Amino acid sequence: MNHEQAAAKLAEAGQEHVLKYFEELSGEQKEQLLGQIEGTDFSSLAALKDGKHENVRGLITPLEVMQLSQIREREAEFREIGLDAIKKGKVGAVLLAGGMGTRLGSDDPKGMYNIGITKDVYIFQRLIENLMDVVKEAGAFIPLYVMTSDKNHEATVKFLKEHDYFGYQKEYVTFFMQEMAPACDYEGKVYLEEKWKISTSPNGNGGWYSSMYKWGVAQKAMADGVEWLNVFAVDNVLQRIADPCFVGAVIANQCEVGEKVVRKCAPDEKIGVVCLEDGRPSIVEYYELTEELMNARDANGDPAYYFGVILNYLFRVDALEKIREKNLPLHIVEKKIPCLDEEGRKVKPESPNGYKFEQLVLDMIHEMDSCLPFEVERNKEFAPIKNKTGIDSVESARELCKENGIVL
Ligand code: UTP
Repeated sequence: MNHEQAAAKLAEAGQEHVLKYFEELSGEQKEQLLGQIEGTDFSSLAALKDGKHENVRGLITPLEVMQLSQIREREAEFREIGLDAIKKGKVGAVLLAGGMGTRLGSDDPKGMYNIGITKDVYIFQRLIENLMDVVKEAGAFIPLYVMTSDKNHEATVKFLKEHDYFGYQKEYVTFFMQEMAPACDYEGKVYLEEKWKISTSPNGNGGWYSSMYKWGVAQKAMADGVEWLNVFAVDNVLQRIADPCFVGAVIANQCEVGEKVVRKCAPDEKIGVVCLEDGRPSIVEYYELTEELMNARDANGDPAYYFGVILNYLFRVDALEKIREKNLPLHIVEKKIPCLDEEGRKVKPESPNGYKFEQLVLDMIHEMDSCLPFEVERNKEFAPIKNKTGIDSVESARELCKENGIVL
């Protein structure tokens, strides 16, 4: 793309300011910027202007959850089915580690955060230790696919390599990178992070499967016989990964997806709750939960929307293939976006200064024909680290680790 073509594309998108410093740039920087303009899809910014981003919800009704008492009754059966699938190499695990972790406020990838007290215990290490429990039980390694982003790929790969993958066999670890999306100010103008670079952020965790495919990693997994992918967040340090009982329950119930859920600790807890939307499995985000839904009761008189997702899903790969090219809704998230100020100086904002655009894995649930919400004990399996202190923090996760006999 030459300067003229870039200027035309930017004019159409109302982003002419991107070329503001063009004349000052070196030849290489000019090339880089023109290449980025060519490769950038500015349509999400148009959606912001048109107000088209507001997703209209369908009719919400309750979705039955497989609760702890029901799971206990059939635990042996589920475990056997799950372990059999794992031993046959049919289950892979996908670690979503492409996020920026801005709330935690560390410049390193979140998985590199050390939550240890008396010794080093990194988040990645905790996750791999949990996965190793299943590897030992099954006597088989589980392929681990790690999604990173442009912002943290190098650091993540280097860190895991330096720590010898915390004892995981490296042949079973594959990395792939997610896509990026432009970030903008409140008027929808993209920010520059360098005079030759538009600010970008990872495009959310909803694009994980299409990115895995773009990298050829999904095809390799399918060729290796992987039929199920357990996708999970980097920040839950009590996360059970490829849990045989969960895997077995989803297979036994012939569902396209399973989702681990916990009972909310308060009606307004900030987690998405499971439901049906127009008769299909879905998730209502906490900020979409009306008073009416919060207080609704099911046929047994229990709260109807009381089970929240913890970002641990088991997808059947053939069901993912059906939706690979589908565009998921775009969510607009207010964030702190490093950028250049009016004078072209670099700024690292203290508070949110604009929007980034994200697709979310929870929207994939609505694309599945059948879903098994599977209850787990929250104190044993849910210790997310979003913040340094307070709710869902390093502090609260340390307490929960202690409760579970994990020495930090
Ligand atoms: P969060 O929603 O907590 O987002 O991610 P975040 O970007 O990591 O953190 P904040 O909001 O800036 O503090 C939930 C999970 O999804 C992954 C994260 O790495 C985490 O495992 N994720 C999020 C991605 O892999 N890519 C993304 O673009 C966003």
